[in-house]
Amino acid sequence: MRHVLVVGIGAGDPDHLTFQAARALEQAHVFFVIDKGQRKEGLERLRREILERALGGRPYQLVRISDPERDRTATAYEHAVADWRRRRADLYAEAIRDKLGEDDCGAFLVWGDPSLYDSTLGILEEILSRGDIEFDYSVIPGISSISALAARHRICLNRIGKPVLITTGRRLENGFPEEIDDVVVMLDAKDTLNQVDGDVEIFWGAYLGMPDEILIAGRAADVSAKILQSRAEARERTGWIMDTSLLRRNTGHRE
Ligand SMILES: C[S@@+](CC[C@H](N)C(=O)[O-])C[C@H]1O[C@@H](n2cnc3c(N)ncnc32)[C@H](O)[C@@H]1O
Repeated sequence: MRHVLVVGIGAGDPDHLTFQAARALEQAHVFFVIDKGQRKEGLERLRREILERALGGRPYQLVRISDPERDRTATAYEHAVADWRRRRADLYAEAIRDKLGEDDCGAFLVWGDPSLYDSTLGILEEILSRGDIEFDYSVIPGISSISALAARHRICLNRIGKPVLITTGRRLENGFPEEIDDVVVMLDAKDTLNQVDGDVEIFWGAYLGMPDEILIAGRAADVSAKILQSRAEARERTGWIMDTSLLRRNTGHRE
């Protein structure tokens, strides 16, 4: 049967690749990457570098799957995402069927860790549920952008016995949640940090693990403007941005 590996490749530094991931990549001959257009060609360079290193220069086939356009104007957000996911599933299914022989092993290279804000696992399940094509798959974890952020700022995400919320910039538009003091923010398309007020500390990182990495930390009142400016400049320079932050409400306890 066809075997598909879903391999977390880390969040930007080729050294993030684990031994387990490197060993898994050795089993595969076809590598699927999602093509997000020219602006993100740096991301593909990283994937190629990882493959060169993990495979020791042996030949391999790289299959680019073009990311279908998502209707970002749609007011019915959930519907737009479901539609986009369906179209992605069609493309993934086609790639698996056409590029992997009956007993071949192929790998999806997934940014960071496949369990975090990534649709690959959901899409593979959707394809299997359609019943048109058979394969089995396994998942190899990777270093997520959150792990990279915490390591670079030398912080623990949680405080003793306390929960941490991982959410998106979009969800933070309504303000800092009442009942949680530590919030990780990802996928912030709209400068949501602008709206963080009160006694909150921000640990921010952009392009973590990459040569352009930027780190800023401090009280929101002191650093939010600097972060937003840095974000805007970086986006202007490179054409895209990936940033993650931990927002930590000051509860008066040093833990
Ligand atoms: C679609 S999610 C993928 C997350 C990924 N699976 C992970 O484990 O980190 C993309 C978001 O992850 C965060 N991200 C990924 N790589 C990053 C990096 N190198 N530096 C900062 N943030 C990153 C950003 O918030 C970005 O908007």
